[in-house]
Amino acid sequence: MLTNSPQSQDGRSTAAAGDGALGARILTMADRLAQFSEIPDGLTCTFMTPAHRATAAEIRNLMNAAGATAHIDVVGNVVGRYANARPDAGTLIVGSHYDTVRNAGKYDGRLGILTGIVAAEELRRRNVALPFHLDVIGFSEEEGVRFSAPYLGSAAIAGRFDAGMLKRRDANGQSLAEVLRESGGTAETITAVARRDKLVGYVEVHIEQGPVLLHENLPVGVVTGIAGFARRRVTVRGVAGHAGAVPMSLRHDAAAAAAEIISMVEQRCSQVPGLRGTVGQLQVPAGAINVIPALCELSLDIRSDNAGELEKALGDIAARIEAIATRRGVSVEIEKVAELPPVLCTPRLRDALGRAVARQRLAVRSLVSGPGHDAVMFDGITDVGMLFVRCGNGGISHSPLETITADDADMGVRVLLDFLTNYEVRP
Ligand code: CO
Repeated sequence: MLTNSPQSQDGRSTAAAGDGALGARILTMADRLAQFSEIPDGLTCTFMTPAHRATAAEIRNLMNAAGATAHIDVVGNVVGRYANARPDAGTLIVGSHYDTVRNAGKYDGRLGILTGIVAAEELRRRNVALPFHLDVIGFSEEEGVRFSAPYLGSAAIAGRFDAGMLKRRDANGQSLAEVLRESGGTAETITAVARRDKLVGYVEVHIEQGPVLLHENLPVGVVTGIAGFARRRVTVRGVAGHAGAVPMSLRHDAAAAAAEIISMVEQRCSQVPGLRGTVGQLQVPAGAINVIPALCELSLDIRSDNAGELEKALGDIAARIEAIATRRGVSVEIEKVAELPPVLCTPRLRDALGRAVARQRLAVRSLVSGPGHDAVMFDGITDVGMLFVRCGNGGISHSPLETITADDADMGVRVLLDFLTNYEVRP
């Protein structure tokens, strides 16, 4: 509950906004969460491991210390409620994820949770009562590392959890159903996690994970939308042969065809702003140094914030792959792996975040998110907005080299505070 106490219960956050103290506090909290890891040197925190459970408990402690009523649900989401005096008020969610990739940075996901906690703490210190319940949520799973299924936490809260996922197994053969049973998670109890109360918006603060804000010397940016993606697995089958015996003109080299496909994808995706194409996996199974490759497997990841451009690119790329295969006398198989359409942030929320940025005397930079975020799960459930905070080190993320500054974290929390205190709930 937001109380009228001028200090938080633990008395730690008495610094006034504007001196950078809120940002420094966020960085200290991120260091504290990073202690819980599956590896001795560095940060790995994947779904429902002991490190993951310890992180959840620590986030719950931080929320409780900041005056929230916090609990951990059956899929591991940590939900901290800063309640409005009117029980029937709507709820605004500020959230992001606390799971990580392997050998991760300390701020991907966690920055958004900690910014929410520190903002709520500061509101309480300033005696500001919001016209809605504020729920700060640490989602348990966004990266999809352990079960190759992203958004497990936010999907449950948004009412989009696919019970079919429970059959998925991790690398050790343990099923998601078995893992969740320990915390009481069954198809039924997970469905019950879905929010049925009146939501008035979802806001996520996240590091940019790219270099745009760094290049433009801006601490924060307003996200206009999150790119959709399409992933494919491409199998090329040619004819094996002796590297010395078969003349170049008579070859059906699967790897050479794959190389041409990669160049084509790069070239096609360079033609349209905002379109991205990546071949991140490439294998010549059972290849040998003196054998013409008979088999080559490659992955495709195509993204855009524009659904039409994404579809056009996919169609073009498939047609050009066929043409390359025909010309080279190899066969190809294109298999769909995963697809998610682009999500546009709600203009109303985008504008409100932009005004909050402008009130900090900063240029309002709008940008598209290439990576997916928990916000995607709330599209169509409530209004969605996102704020990016600048990354250091060339914008690197998903790496221990990921950095942010205390001043930038401070600006993130100030923008969020400004947004929360000025946000008008849709009538
Ligand atoms: Co993230």
